[in-house]
Amino acid sequence: MAIDLSKSDLIVAVIGAGAMGRGIAQVCAQAGLQTLLYDARDGAVAEAIASVGKGLDGQVVKGRLSADDKAGVMARLKPMATLAEAAPAGLVIEAIVEDLAVKRELFRALEKHLSADAVIATNTSSLSVTEIAAGCERPARIGGLHFFNPPPVMKLVEVIGGLRSDPELTGALVQFSRRIGKQPIVATDTPGFVVNHAGRAYGPEALRIVAQGIAAPFEVDTLMKESAGFRMGPFELLDLIGADITHAVMESIYARYYDEPMYQPSAQLAVRVAGGLLGRKSGRGFYDYASAPAAQAATIAVAPSVKPKSVWIADEAGGGDLAALLEAAGIDTVLGGTPDAKDLCLVTPLGEDCTSAALRLKLDPARTVAVDMFGNPLGRSLGRITAMKNPLTAPDALSAAVAALAATGAPVTAINDSAGFVVQRLLAMIVNVGTRIAELRVAAPADIDTGAELGLNYPKGPLALGDTLGPSRVLAVLDGMQALTRDPKYRATAWLRRRAALGVSLHMPD
Ligand SMILES: NC(=O)c1ccc[n+]([C@@H]2O[C@H](COP(=O)([O-])OP(=O)(O)OC[C@H]3O[C@@H](n4cnc5c(N)ncnc54)[C@H](O)[C@@H]3O)[C@@H](O)[C@H]2O)c1
Repeated sequence: MAIDLSKSDLIVAVIGAGAMGRGIAQVCAQAGLQTLLYDARDGAVAEAIASVGKGLDGQVVKGRLSADDKAGVMARLKPMATLAEAAPAGLVIEAIVEDLAVKRELFRALEKHLSADAVIATNTSSLSVTEIAAGCERPARIGGLHFFNPPPVMKLVEVIGGLRSDPELTGALVQFSRRIGKQPIVATDTPGFVVNHAGRAYGPEALRIVAQGIAAPFEVDTLMKESAGFRMGPFELLDLIGADITHAVMESIYARYYDEPMYQPSAQLAVRVAGGLLGRKSGRGFYDYASAPAAQAATIAVAPSVKPKSVWIADEAGGGDLAALLEAAGIDTVLGGTPDAKDLCLVTPLGEDCTSAALRLKLDPARTVAVDMFGNPLGRSLGRITAMKNPLTAPDALSAAVAALAATGAPVTAINDSAGFVVQRLLAMIVNVGTRIAELRVAAPADIDTGAELGLNYPKGPLALGDTLGPSRVLAVLDGMQALTRDPKYRATAWLRRRAALGVSLHMPD
């Protein structure tokens, strides 16, 4: 039986009138579809419809919607008193509590009321579509339509086919998503689908950087915004979403990928969740929302210093660019050769910490400071500059390095030793997880990028980001991090390694 969700008289039933269900119902009604709404809790549907009405009133006041259009939407949105009233629906979208047993019971009950060709789609974030459909009579008609919060605002929808879904189902759900004005991407039925999987790099790696005392949360946030072009820092994002929600997603994906080290949750975040430091909603997370913003203490107190007359710079990738920046700021530079005993030595490693770079180049660690020249993925100026010390760097050497870098006009953040600084680590992890999603055939490369851009608000999707930075440079960062730490979470995927070796785009299919 062909699957057709394009009929003009298609009726949609939304089950669950909470945060997501009411938004999904509004989107369907605004797209001109007759939309039924049901909830197991008495009064929930009336509350939801009233709240949709109130939201639309706001749009009318702002002139974004006419009063007639609002009235049309409200007329198309109808409450259901019982599940049996879903009978005329050609598509049911389920958005009830995230509980496998409860969802399964609902799906079995729905099958009894619906016609044999009706489609049921779950909005689950963390359960398997195949698992929800198991035990149903018509698993071929069950798939996933994963909306993002709030559905009327977020453009993205993930379309998921279960293992028993009809091969036509994803195509029909893709068309339906476009019909209601959304941008669909297609994902296989795997933990976290695309977006929650792609998000397993930014927050977790930032938490590790802070746990290791390399930089403070506000320093990581500023670096990611000012040097890497992200709209929000990882800790601002954690506070916005809520540490409890993020930690639960981290635990779920880690467990469902059988303890894949790349997705290891944060022990430090677990303590914060237990202590109620959840973020904006609890008044305090990584930032304090209850009181006026106070100045935050930098990880390293750098004493002010006059800018040095000259510096020695290692003649490696990024060294020439740094020399040009400093020359333009009126500082003499010596690129390569053997430094004098008193010279301030600047190194520009990729994926290497300051200690290793100083020892490899036979420099005096006390006079050596590392500068991150990895670059801004948006191609603008270097933005904020990172200066990284090793445990032996003398305070006056760090002060002189910071003064030299500040003379370029860019703000400077000083951090403790880290293979990959802050920005290199975070960007390389985002790219690596993106390539893992491609390698596991969770979605097509273009859909992975669309998912991260629209679902996570990244300036670029992970694969496009990797192409901009250069796959071989991203690989060098990961290899460097793994070489120092021996930690398997930093191993590069074969997808990345192969494309870096061939010199082709990370979008290149097999
Ligand atoms: N909140 C998000 O950011 C978000 C984003 C994407 C997907 N999701 C998923 O969407 C679903 C709903 O999430 P939410 O945030 O809207 O939850 P919610 O708690 O706001 O709403 C759930 C609603 O379902 C109702 N309900 C519970 N059991 C029911 C049943 N057996 N039959 C009918 N109604 C029932 C509840 O009364 C409640 O009104 C979950 O599967 C969740 O994982 C949530």
